[in-house]
Amino acid sequence: MARRIQIFDTTLRDGEQSPGASMNIEEKLSVAKQLARLKVDVIEAGFPISSVGDFEAVKAVAETVKGSAVAGLCRAGKMDIDRAWEALKHAKRPVIHTFIATSDIHLEKKLKKSREEVLDIAVMAVKHAKGYCEDVEFSAEDAARSDFDYLCQVVEAVIDAGVTVVNIPDTVGYAIPSEYGAMIGKLIERVPNSKKAIISVHCHNDLGLATANSLAAVANGAGQVECTINGIGERAGNAALEEVVMAINTRADLMGVKTGINTTEIYRASRLVTDVTGLKVQVNKAIVGANAFAHEAGIHQHGVLQEKRTYEIMDAEAIGLAESKLVLGKHSGRHAFEGKLKSLGYSLTKGELDKAFERFKSLADKKKELFDEDIEAIIADEVYAIPSKYHLSYMNVMTSLDGIPTATIRLKTDDGEIIEAGVGVGSVDAVYKTIDKMIDASYDLADFNIKSVTGGTDALGEVTVKLKAKNDEVYTGRGASLDIVEASAKAYLNAVNKLVYYEEKRGNGGKPKDKAIL
Ligand code: KIV
Ligand code: ZN
Repeated sequence: MARRIQIFDTTLRDGEQSPGASMNIEEKLSVAKQLARLKVDVIEAGFPISSVGDFEAVKAVAETVKGSAVAGLCRAGKMDIDRAWEALKHAKRPVIHTFIATSDIHLEKKLKKSREEVLDIAVMAVKHAKGYCEDVEFSAEDAARSDFDYLCQVVEAVIDAGVTVVNIPDTVGYAIPSEYGAMIGKLIERVPNSKKAIISVHCHNDLGLATANSLAAVANGAGQVECTINGIGERAGNAALEEVVMAINTRADLMGVKTGINTTEIYRASRLVTDVTGLKVQVNKAIVGANAFAHEAGIHQHGVLQEKRTYEIMDAEAIGLAESKLVLGKHSGRHAFEGKLKSLGYSLTKGELDKAFERFKSLADKKKELFDEDIEAIIADEVYAIPSKYHLSYMNVMTSLDGIPTATIRLKTDDGEIIEAGVGVGSVDAVYKTIDKMIDASYDLADFNIKSVTGGTDALGEVTVKLKAKNDEVYTGRGASLDIVEASAKAYLNAVNKLVYYEEKRGNGGKPKDKAIL
């Protein structure tokens, strides 16, 4: 029988450590719900002691998500573990994930501790965590560059202390598949109590080998793979969940293992993570890139038309990428809309449904044909939003060949309306300069991206912007509209609203996430 591999998703923790990928609580919750639909075994929701925001996000995920276990990361210290437990304690299946580095370079240069001291700290941390819950994972940070005999000693000691999962990370993405696979196999063989815990792997992609290394480890006995949606993560990222899972599925003949993942939710998860982080997927990215299932060359198209298997090793449907279907039109009622949302995997509250339906009706009035992607864009716009201080209530933009682009904008706030006009070198510039005059905050535009949601000149335009605040935090905003200047304004205001919201929250006791804590 095929051996079952656990999928531990760390999109919300290691993934969020990607530069510019920070997510707010609402965004983290929506990603966590999607991960639960994907049926990942464990959702690592954050690093509770690293910031108030992270603590609150882990707590919210722990209290909300059912189906998957919820993990919180903590260094191997009592304070960290206590804080992690405080955030996790309401989870149905909490996992305390504690770590300390085991490589000599980390011991000497970062921790300034001896091997014996680190071993004692690891055992103490596991015992302390076990006082709170049954499921405790220990990670030997930089394991792939650690002295092998010492690593085995640490693994044996933490298993004796009661750990349920031991993770052997390739923290810096240095390993080569044959080497890493052999190391996992040898470790399982050498450590006498290794069968009492699941051996997990966590590979970074600095050499582009994270997926290959994870699969080599699985072939050599690893029972859990740690990965992220779209492979986002620290530096070059982590092993991509969609690649690991689809490789295991597609080559079940060779691998002889299986996962519990509902692969038809992969595409939606990828799309959601792109929306909330603003980190685009390269077009030729395996599994979820725009070209992954496209056939350009005539000879390929001909082959695929005759028999799909000539050039396709997977079905697009297997990852939930059905052909763009015409879904609804302006005569579709609320019932049909709700049914469509259900079939796309969304379950909204009544308030969210009201907002989304209103937006759907107004879009259907202007656009003849609505596709799944349009519905997804509406949901991303209307539902995954934080409370907004500024609402766009009027915008008039004038531009002409050789003319000066001019924008007049009215924003609605709780304190009334603000009206302003301004000029720029282009329409979007005029809009952004005008909005800047109306907002009491300082930031720089760090990135601007535009794409069309579907084909055709009446397609929704989807804009993503990143604003960098004075403290270097990056806020991602997105907006969709049939008019790209309006989509640009919405995306900008979405990012501004996040920035203002979190700066106000921070003033009330929140503090910026300390990414240097690792
Ligand atoms: O890469 C790494 O070693 C980590 C650990 C904290 C698990 O992310
Ligand atoms: Zn990592």
